[in-house]
Amino acid sequence: MTETPQTFDEYLARMKTTHGPFMDEREWDTVIAPNLEAIRQSVARGGGGPDDEVHWALVRQQFSFDHETGYLNTGTLGASPLAVRRKAAELREVCEHDPWVGQGWLYRHAQQAVEKVAALLNAEPSEISFTQNTTQSLLHVSSGLDLRRGDLIVTTNREHHGGRIAWDLVQSWRGVHVENVPIPDVVEDADSLNAEIIQRFRDTFERYNTPKYARKKKLLSVAHIFSPIARRMPVKALCALARDYGYVSFVDGAHAVGMIRVDLHDIGCDFYGTSTHKWLLATKGTGILYVRNASSDRMKRFVTKAQWNAWQVNKTMPSTGPFGTMGTYDPAACCGIGAAVDFLNLIGSIDRVEARGWALACRLRNGIDGLPGLGFITPNQPLSTPVERRLSGSMTAFILDGAGNMGEQLRDRYAINFPSSDRWGRVSTHYYNTPAQVDRIIQALRDLAGRG
Ligand SMILES: Cc1ncc(COP(=O)(O)O)c(C=O)c1O
Repeated sequence: MTETPQTFDEYLARMKTTHGPFMDEREWDTVIAPNLEAIRQSVARGGGGPDDEVHWALVRQQFSFDHETGYLNTGTLGASPLAVRRKAAELREVCEHDPWVGQGWLYRHAQQAVEKVAALLNAEPSEISFTQNTTQSLLHVSSGLDLRRGDLIVTTNREHHGGRIAWDLVQSWRGVHVENVPIPDVVEDADSLNAEIIQRFRDTFERYNTPKYARKKKLLSVAHIFSPIARRMPVKALCALARDYGYVSFVDGAHAVGMIRVDLHDIGCDFYGTSTHKWLLATKGTGILYVRNASSDRMKRFVTKAQWNAWQVNKTMPSTGPFGTMGTYDPAACCGIGAAVDFLNLIGSIDRVEARGWALACRLRNGIDGLPGLGFITPNQPLSTPVERRLSGSMTAFILDGAGNMGEQLRDRYAINFPSSDRWGRVSTHYYNTPAQVDRIIQALRDLAGRG
């Protein structure tokens, strides 16, 4: 009688002995693994600074997009490294060769992914659930809060539809009141922007600080980094203020995780949603929902019959775990989140990634500052700005007036592709972009501005 494998590696080895190699593994041995080792050595030598092009060129070998033009829209969807794709593909193969037993191993793997995510984001593993994206994370929060007529959501006029669809629905279906705090379009004075924004929220909370709302549920919902204006919000201060006024808080972190350091316990929000297929570069169709342990009783999460039964019997919220909020789904995709965290740590930590993206963004902003017709939507702060005073991260939004249809010309004449319209543009500069790619954009915008 053969022994039951005790570890996943034993199980995998057994499977390959039985079935033979189930995918072409040569590429792993000859290309991917040596490259990962070279990156590891580069980090060990102290590589990975914002200008260390040798290091970032090694890292870039993991990516399949055109390396000359670069990929400039991580803000919509990231490109996954080979290491992540192969890991998810291998696990999917395991499941195909033995769906039932294989699935059990994958769920254990996914639990490890939860632990990796929790360590990256400074949360407890029990506070992390996997979802498919930010939109779904928010929908879980909105349904779990069981909002009723007269409850209150305070949000902004700048949320992405994925960060507000849930509130539009409860407003229309349940009579929940949604208040939009306006975010200034143009930044007159970067130094006072956050103070101005915090004051607008304080005024709003104060306005609703009336007996009518005293017994209602109240929630703050705000993006960590806005999508079209690419600005970073003072979420820690806003969540603290919300708490003082009796609100719970949801932060839409679609762009933050994988772009900047995110410390969930420090931010102090009750709920946080993100899409790991953006800046974390994980498997497509994956996201995270964080529910602070201390806040878990505020949100009921019943998606499975078993959870509903447990609630009926015990009247306490069942622990959800990574799959608590969904029925059966693709655990290999979630394991890809763990592989993406591994890759991030391998290439030199989130702080190095943040510093690299910021340096490239600053290069772009400095290169286009002062062009005729150019206006910054994302403020152009100095490269030396300390992290806690930054009003943005690795995305830059701007307008260019008087140059005809900017987006069309960039695509057709210069083969430069990022989200844009006739006068608005948003460039994502992640660690896999290069100064040369940024300089191509600068040159094209100078040309276009010069024609105006
Ligand atoms: C700020 C923000 N929130 C939410 C979303 C929705 O993300 P997803 O489609 O992955 O749910 C996006 C997408 O770009 C976004 O920019």
